[in-house]
Amino acid sequence: MNTKIVKIQSKGAPFSAEEEDAFRLAGEILKSGGLVAFPTETVYGLGGDGLNKESVRKIYAAKGRPQDNPLIIHISHLKDIALIVKDCPKAARRAAESFWPGPLTMILPKTDMVPYEVTGGLDTVAVRFPSHPVARKLIECGGGYVAAPSANLSGRPSPTTAKYVVEDMNGRVDMIVDGGDGDIGLESTIVDMTVSPPRILRPGFITKEMLEQALGEVDIDETIIKPDSGQAPKAPGMKYRHYAPRGELTIVEGPSQDVIAYMNEAAAADRASGEKTGIIGTSHFLASYCADVVKCVGNREEEETIARNLFTVLREFDDDGVTRIYSESFDSQGLGQAIMNRLLKAAGHKVIKL
Ligand code: TXA
Ligand code: MG
Repeated sequence: MNTKIVKIQSKGAPFSAEEEDAFRLAGEILKSGGLVAFPTETVYGLGGDGLNKESVRKIYAAKGRPQDNPLIIHISHLKDIALIVKDCPKAARRAAESFWPGPLTMILPKTDMVPYEVTGGLDTVAVRFPSHPVARKLIECGGGYVAAPSANLSGRPSPTTAKYVVEDMNGRVDMIVDGGDGDIGLESTIVDMTVSPPRILRPGFITKEMLEQALGEVDIDETIIKPDSGQAPKAPGMKYRHYAPRGELTIVEGPSQDVIAYMNEAAAADRASGEKTGIIGTSHFLASYCADVVKCVGNREEEETIARNLFTVLREFDDDGVTRIYSESFDSQGLGQAIMNRLLKAAGHKVIKL
C-alpha cells in the first residue's frame, strides 16, 4: 500500500486551502473504509470508521493487535454520543462537562450501532472527545465516529511524533497526517462509568485527584497500582506487555544517591560484557550518570515534561541500538501514577528496590 503523508501546519482553524483539501481527502478515505493516522493531544491515533466492521478489521491487521483488545471511538461533538451510547449516567455527563474535549476516555453501555468488532465482544464502548483541532476536524470530515488505537505496532511505545508513526505504519495505512508533536505524550485516562463509583482503568493526564474533584469518590483498578495482584485488568489492553523498547529495561527505586550508584555500576558491568547501555534520568541528577547513552526524560518539578518525553526517549534508545536500559522510578500519585504505569509495562515490571 502506498501511504500518503501530509503535513498540517496550522494549529487550528482557519486551515489553509491545501490543508482543507487534505482533510477532505482524509475524510473520503475514512468514509470509504480506509485508514488514516492522525495527531491527538495525547498520542497519534490510527483511525478508521468506527461504525464499519471492515475498517475496524483493517485497524487490527495494520497494528498486529489481538482481537480481544477493544478500540476507542473518537467523536468531535458531544451530541454525537447519543448514537453510540445507550445511556449516559450523571457522573459521565459531569465528567464530560469538566474534561471534554480532552484526554479522558469513558466506558459506557453501547448501542446496536457499535459493532462488536470495535468492542472486542463487550457490551460497553470506550468514547473519547479529543481537544486537538486537527483530530476534531478529521473526525468530523470522516463521518463523526473514528475508532483509533495508538498508531504504533502492537507492543511498541505509542508514537508522540509523526516520525515514529511513519516508522511503524508506512505502507500499512492509506494516509498519515503529520500535525507536529503531541502535547501530553501519554494516552488518555480511561474511566469505567458503568460502575459506581466510577473506576479508573488506565491512569493518564486527568488524574484520580482531578476526577475526584469533579465526581466525588473514584476507584482505581487494582491491577494498575499492584501489578502483581494476579487479577486480570478490566481494560483488556492493559494486560499485554506494552511500550517496550527493544533493549531490556530495569527500573531502579530508592534514595537518589543509591539509585545513581547502582545504575552506574550495573551499566559498567553490562558494558564490560558487551552490552550497549542506557540510562533514563531526570534533569537534576543527569550529570551524575555514566553509560553509553544517558537521556533526560524531564524535570521532576514539572511532571508534564516527563509524560511528554517518556515514549520518545524509549524509542530513541532503539534508534541508538541500546540493549540494556536503567531508569529512575517515579511517584505513584498524580501524573506520576500514569508515568510509572507505562514505565512498569515497558520494563515488564522489572524493578530493583534499593
Ligand atoms: O489517548 C488515547 O486514548 C489514544 C489516542 C489515539 O486517542 N488511544 C489509545 O488507544 O490509547 P489504545 O487502543 O491504544 O488503548 C485503548 C485502551 C485499551 O487498553 C483497551 O483495552 C481499552 O482502551 N478499552 C477499549 N474499549 C474498552 C471497553 N469497552 N472496556 C474496557 N476497556 C476498553
Ligand atoms: Mg495503545
